[in-house]
Amino acid sequence: MKAVLFDQPGPADVLRLGDFADPVPGPADLLISVKFAGVNRADLMQRQGFYPPPPGASPILGLECAGVVVEVGGEVRGWREGDRVMALLPGGGYAQKAVVDYRSAMPVPSTLSDHEAAAIPEVYLTAFLNLFLLAGVKPGETVLVHGGGSGVGTASIQLLNFIGARTIVTAGSDAKCEQCLKFGATVAINYNAGPFAPRVRAATNDRGVDVILDSIGAAYLMPNIEALAHGGRLLIIGLMKGAKAEIDLSQVLRRHIKIFGSTLRSRSSAEKGEIISAFLEQFGQKLHAGEIRPPIYKVVPMTEAASAHRMMQASEHFGKIVLAIS
Ligand SMILES: NC(=O)c1ccc[n+]([C@@H]2O[C@H](COP(=O)([O-])OP(=O)(O)OC[C@H]3O[C@@H](n4cnc5c(N)ncnc54)[C@H](OP(=O)(O)O)[C@@H]3O)[C@@H](O)[C@H]2O)c1
Repeated sequence: MKAVLFDQPGPADVLRLGDFADPVPGPADLLISVKFAGVNRADLMQRQGFYPPPPGASPILGLECAGVVVEVGGEVRGWREGDRVMALLPGGGYAQKAVVDYRSAMPVPSTLSDHEAAAIPEVYLTAFLNLFLLAGVKPGETVLVHGGGSGVGTASIQLLNFIGARTIVTAGSDAKCEQCLKFGATVAINYNAGPFAPRVRAATNDRGVDVILDSIGAAYLMPNIEALAHGGRLLIIGLMKGAKAEIDLSQVLRRHIKIFGSTLRSRSSAEKGEIISAFLEQFGQKLHAGEIRPPIYKVVPMTEAASAHRMMQASEHFGKIVLAIS
């Protein structure tokens, strides 16, 4: 099969189209003929050599895809050849064929196109896992989401709006803040126009936010704590600005702050299956009604995967970039 490959970690130019052995499905797997693959920030890190695939996963990039089931393992329940599918992958999406444990797959509702479906699993399940399963966000709470224009950010805005939570986002320009507000954020803060924490406190009558979804890491650790309300929950899901920071633990103690860290990719198929079941239970109707719909910034042919990576690196996108696999 054709796949987007790289021989050595490096800049986007290392990506090339090449031939790779077809994946072989195990008894609990679906073999998918991939039509589209979502591009994620983690793919850029893997390409640079900073985020190796978990043991046993495909070395090919790609954490989510959509396509058609072409083969079904003997232990698989509920799937048939010819079904439209979107899947959360531990790797392997940037290729004409991918295998996935059936518990990591979701049927594609008729209301969604294949390229929209390919942009759903990684970011919506990350947002759902962290905001709902780990932090237990409730209607009426206020959540700060860093990178409101990102794949995870836009998914978070959408899911939080469904339950009636207020969303404050950060973004790097007034134009992107405007896009976030149009997409449903309650407040948008341009992080390049000064420190975000005082503006978050001002936007919450100095109370602070109940929950923060953070993908920035070290540089935002103390300002995040400043922006949290008493008893607030901080979810760390990314380290775009560093992994090592100093923390004033007296703030954590006195203000009853809870800090969570998590990754989705490294979880077992059983855990991923439980997250997907819980997501479909809470948001399945919205998904089927076509109300869960990722904003697609651009669909790029797989032959131009390097340009898709450069686009994401420059953060010129709002929402998702998707590769068309041909
Ligand atoms: N732990 C997990 O399981 C998990 C799963 C999926 C994703 N993630 C993480 O979640 C993050 C988002 O992933 P993605 O694929 O959705 O990425 P993405 O679409 O590339 O978005 C990254 C966003 O961060 C914004 N940003 C950059 N510097 C910022 C700063 N200092 N303050 C606030 N925003 C900033 C960028 O936009 P502007 O600067 O233009 O506003 C961009 O919108 C990544 O860190 C990724 O590794 C974690």
